[in-house]
Amino acid sequence: MTEIKKIGTIKLIICDDLKNTAKHGAKIFAEAIRKKSDLVLGLATGGTPVELYKELIRMNKEGALSFRQVNSFNLDEYLGLAGDHPQSYRYFMNKNLFDHIDIEKSNTHVPDGTSENPDISCKQYEESIKEANGIDLQLLGIGSNGHIAFNEPGSSLTSRTRVVDLKENTINDNARFFSNKSEVPKKAVTMGIGTILEAKKIVLIATGANKKDAVSKSLNGKPNPNIPASFLQNHPDCTFIIDNEAS
Ligand code: F6R
Repeated sequence: MTEIKKIGTIKLIICDDLKNTAKHGAKIFAEAIRKKSDLVLGLATGGTPVELYKELIRMNKEGALSFRQVNSFNLDEYLGLAGDHPQSYRYFMNKNLFDHIDIEKSNTHVPDGTSENPDISCKQYEESIKEANGIDLQLLGIGSNGHIAFNEPGSSLTSRTRVVDLKENTINDNARFFSNKSEVPKKAVTMGIGTILEAKKIVLIATGANKKDAVSKSLNGKPNPNIPASFLQNHPDCTFIIDNEAS
């Protein structure tokens, strides 16, 4: 059973389980791409979007959805990891989505984790988003500490794409993807909260009991930098799709 509520400006969809959050999310993405074939997507990595990406791959393989004219911008990348590193977000995106759909790889963008001058690369990333006329539809996950992209607690509402230090609990949460916690990079490049809030539409997905607290604090109470996802309350078209465990 799916429950739909409105909390302030945010539309909240509560699904039974992870599979249904993915189905719901994929439907929103597919409908938007069918409406505008050259849609500009903002994409996320991590455990949460994998099922949604599987749904999009399925639709693409069945001929029900084409990404031929779609452009994409990923939220973030670990600093120091090249695109061919198995834990880099470029590698993740190729493996979990881009290699399996008809998107032009040259239309996919992930921040450069190995730039010699990361600050200049961050500015160029912002410029590329502007040149593409901004992000139409942004997918987000949420950290157990309330982060969005790698905007950790303390990030400002107006932050832009930049290099950030990862918090200890983010390093702990992400250690599951590495063979050893000491291998998790301590810094990353991330779109800012200001960058994310400029997307025309935002869909955040959260599943599992370890997201419950972050989701609740994001939806209830005033927007504040301690819970970066709470700043999404300032967006006019933001949907949270969560499962029962996260609600
Ligand atoms: C990833 C990202 C992060 C994740 C968040 C949740 O590109 O921006 O904010 O969305 O850390 O990660 P998972 O889905 O692994 O729980």
